[in-house]
Amino acid sequence: MTRPASTQHPSAHDDRDAANELAACLSPSAVVRSHEPLAKRTTLRVGGPADLYVEPASEEDLVQTLKFCGRRKLPWFVLGRGSNLLVKDAGFRGVVICLAQPCFSRIEVENQRLRCGAGAKLKVVAVEAKRNSLAGLEFLEGIPGSVGGALRMNAGAMGGAIFDIVESLRLMDFCGQTQERSVADLEVGYRRCPMLKTHIALGALLRGRPGSRDLITRSMEEFSRKRWQSQPAAPSAGCAFKNPPQIPAGKLIDELGLKGTRVGGAYVSAEHGNFIVNDGTATANDILQLMDTIRHRARTERGIELETEVEIIGE
Ligand code: EPU
Repeated sequence: MTRPASTQHPSAHDDRDAANELAACLSPSAVVRSHEPLAKRTTLRVGGPADLYVEPASEEDLVQTLKFCGRRKLPWFVLGRGSNLLVKDAGFRGVVICLAQPCFSRIEVENQRLRCGAGAKLKVVAVEAKRNSLAGLEFLEGIPGSVGGALRMNAGAMGGAIFDIVESLRLMDFCGQTQERSVADLEVGYRRCPMLKTHIALGALLRGRPGSRDLITRSMEEFSRKRWQSQPAAPSAGCAFKNPPQIPAGKLIDELGLKGTRVGGAYVSAEHGNFIVNDGTATANDILQLMDTIRHRARTERGIELETEVEIIGE
């Protein structure tokens, strides 16, 4: 007996089988899909699909997902809000894990602190702090990411960075063991937290201080105004490069006369030199080529090595 001819690539069947096998290990409310487009899950809006995509509904689901990846030797990646992420055009050959379900995105207020799940949106955290008259978290308002993503790269804006207000973290290692860690035990720097290269952030306890709701509102409005004045609204992944010690990357790129430089549908923003924006037609490859051009010019003309801030995955 011969199998009926299929119009689909054989790997699509494999991915569907793998999705079914993974779904069978998880609770019924977990989401598991194969061949999931990722462009719509990133603020840059480029890139190909993930072979498998999963939203675990509990920590146990996350443990089971990691075990599944281990058994099948599949690479995996934890996706936040996709605001600092470039997915390459052919997509990701592995499992993209998104902590978007309620058990990972709760925000609870206790004793001037906010216990936030990794999947909580920073903007929502900032609004929740304001609602409870807790100051010190206003700068989170303009960062378009999740708590987990922000922790991973110690994201910041307006002079603040998330680890300035973190008291402790809830972590899972890649074998599924969880632990609470005080931030005092962690090495943290500008846009880096090495512990989160080997652990998944499940959540954090963020510290506020009692404040006036009016002043908090005003400070958030002021941050928002500054941001809209200096940063583009078009799709981007925020700053493309980390600031090198010598000069802010945006200023350097501006001085090199690179604003407006274009590769395909990707160009350097006229508003801020460190933003690469997508005119709606860009591919990941356009963006990568533009980054290479910028890095090359910074190296050859100013002797400065620019390090990408944007995380790059896929093939
Ligand atoms: N500048 C220029 N030309 C430009 C851009 C900037 O001359 O095209 C100058 C500005 O006038 C200013 C200096 O460079 O004197 C620094 O610029 P800005 O104040 O915009 O700050 P930044 O260092 O470029 C950082 C973060 C941003 C964050 C802003 C505001 C990094 C890589 N970037 O930008 O974070 O929003 O401060 O607080 O640390 C991100 O990380 O994705 C991001 C957008």
